[in-house]
Amino acid sequence: MGKIRKVVIPAAGLGTRLYPLTRGQPKEMLPIVDKPVIHYVVEEAVKAGIEEILIIIGRGKESVINYFDSNNFDSNLDREYGFDKFPEIFFVRQKEPKGLADAINCARGFVGEEPFLVLLGDTIYTTQSKDAVAKQLVKAFESKDAPIIAVEKIGQSEIKYYGIIDGKKVSDRLWLIKDAVEKPDPKDAPSNMGIAGAYVLTSDIFNYIDRLSKGKNGEYQLTDALKAMAKETEVYGYEFEGRRYDIGTKERWIDAFIEFAKGDKKFHSK
Ligand code: UTP
Repeated sequence: MGKIRKVVIPAAGLGTRLYPLTRGQPKEMLPIVDKPVIHYVVEEAVKAGIEEILIIIGRGKESVINYFDSNNFDSNLDREYGFDKFPEIFFVRQKEPKGLADAINCARGFVGEEPFLVLLGDTIYTTQSKDAVAKQLVKAFESKDAPIIAVEKIGQSEIKYYGIIDGKKVSDRLWLIKDAVEKPDPKDAPSNMGIAGAYVLTSDIFNYIDRLSKGKNGEYQLTDALKAMAKETEVYGYEFEGRRYDIGTKERWIDAFIEFAKGDKKFHSK
């Protein structure tokens, strides 16, 4: 079993639900208090022990590249903002936003044969645990040596926005996944456990992505590739300890901003 050294961060989505905020800037560059969202995502990866980062970008996302230009790195300033040393970051462009599975496929060359972490560019986490959520997932992968997906309980009215798993609980936080369905009608959902934006995958996933046809919303869905994989090999879900903020909608972005501001003593009036 290989150590998880690499993360893939898909950030090529159009961000239409945040329009008009995303007319001139990517959603990954929206602020959460005093840092852009993508900064938190990279920090989460670094906390999981990642050494190499690939960010999948698309049209109009150049400011993400500029943000991580190492010429802009100031070791004093950046230490205060979460980086002791500047992480190794690469970028690749997804030609068209054809779906999350297609975005991950752009990482094939970067990943090679190694297992790798995936963190969505618009999703950040907080936790009371000593381990960051991505670190929890990496540890769970190490215990099982099989692909593993962060999952969490989803309220009935939200099920239609998530990939939902069907599986068997095998221990306190682990599910053995038997099936998965992208954005089901709540009445057809196989469970209330939703896929929560973080994954540790093995390079076999590319074989399943190769066989995909277009799924929900005419996009190549990672959930469909995972579903096919789960039929042939062990794939686990891991109920992480922490809270997830998907900043892809205005309500959730505002919610995240407020929660992070409340938690940051720098911004509390005396
Ligand atoms: P979303 O579906 O939440 O993002 O994709 P989106 O496409 O930007 O959303 P809307 O509907 O237009 O508002 C989940 C993650 O997958 C990435 C997104 O950037 C986000 O991090 N993604 C999605 C890609 O990188 N490429 C794609 O083709 C689709």
